[in-house]
Amino acid sequence: MSTPSLLILPGDGIGPEVMAEVRRVIDWFGARRGLAFDVTEDLVGGAAWDVHGTPLTDATMEAAQGVDAVLLGAVGGPKYDDLDFSVKPERGLLRLRKEMDLFANLRPAQCFDALADFSSLKRDVVAGLDIMIVRELTSGVYFGEPRGIVTENNERVGINTQRYTESEIARVARSAFELARRRDNRVCSMEKANVMESGVLWRQVVTEVHAAEYPDVELSHMYADAGAMQLTRWPRQFDVIVTDNLFGDLLSDLAAMLTGSLGMLPSASLGAPMANGRPKALYEPVHGSAPDIAGQGKANPIACILSFAMALRYSFDQGAEADRLEGAVQAVLAQGLRTPDLMGPEGGTPVGTRGMGDAILAALD
Ligand code: NAI
Ligand code: MG
Repeated sequence: MSTPSLLILPGDGIGPEVMAEVRRVIDWFGARRGLAFDVTEDLVGGAAWDVHGTPLTDATMEAAQGVDAVLLGAVGGPKYDDLDFSVKPERGLLRLRKEMDLFANLRPAQCFDALADFSSLKRDVVAGLDIMIVRELTSGVYFGEPRGIVTENNERVGINTQRYTESEIARVARSAFELARRRDNRVCSMEKANVMESGVLWRQVVTEVHAAEYPDVELSHMYADAGAMQLTRWPRQFDVIVTDNLFGDLLSDLAAMLTGSLGMLPSASLGAPMANGRPKALYEPVHGSAPDIAGQGKANPIACILSFAMALRYSFDQGAEADRLEGAVQAVLAQGLRTPDLMGPEGGTPVGTRGMGDAILAALD
């Protein structure tokens, strides 16, 4: 089998800082586990705009289509706030997701035991938490037409459109049911069928896919606002949550805080299988470019490192090596090492980005 290929797009802000630690982890797996990757690195977001005047060149887009997996840091920053919407750094990421057709965004929210007291919720509410939010990623209100700011009756009107086809709903529902079968066999689907027609269709299609193809999986439905309440009240009632692009964006950020820090959260975005059977895939931390701490060497690299662990598991069939990497992260947290974002009232040993990377490499050894 040919050497698996990986395209690395560090991006902006803390993206390059955390990705430097991932590069060291990738090198470790090559040197110590005989897992070689054909790694190329390129620009995305503001970094690409600075050089090429576009947040994603056609050449980079083509490269992303040709590799086994893409690993992205983060894009955006205040420097680019005044750019036209069409060339904003975020458009680079949206184009990747859209053209690779990455319709299922997997966001695990997992409570690492060493961090249970760090959560804003009580330990007994979050301890052992392990949920997976599956967010539809390529459609919905972020893409629907018509959109824009128009003038009507002498005032400005901002317009976005929520639009879902039944095939878009069905394929993300299948992703959620497939995942559930490998987990606790439960899916909760969230929408606002009480006030949105797109939500009514969502509920119908999820119910149909379930009845026809996944009757063995336990399915429940919840309005997304009630879901937000239940996520903070009793999060362990959930296993897999499947929801649309907008609600998924909000609910996964909410779930992020249950486990303590955005700096801990990885994600995977999967599409249809390629010729070699691997799904099209992009892995990235949930967090953004964190301009408030960029360049200070204190960003937590764990979210990006765990994103690579997900790549090992979902793109490269290296579940045991993914366990090894996640185990090293667990061990380092249990030792009490904390980047500033993880420093709670109970204290710990302060480390920066590089120090956390060093400790994870040491734990891997
Ligand atoms: P953000 O995720 O960059 O930061 C939110 C807060 O969390 C900040 O206080 C930040 O310091 C902290 N934080 C984030 N990641 C951290 C890490 N690894 N270690 C320690 N602390 C961390 O979100 P924000 O501030 O809303 O957006 C900043 C920029 O990033 C914007 O330009 C935004 O558009 C962009 N962004 C990009 C995303 C992406 O590339 N996927 C996602 C979210 C935002
Ligand atoms: Mg978000």
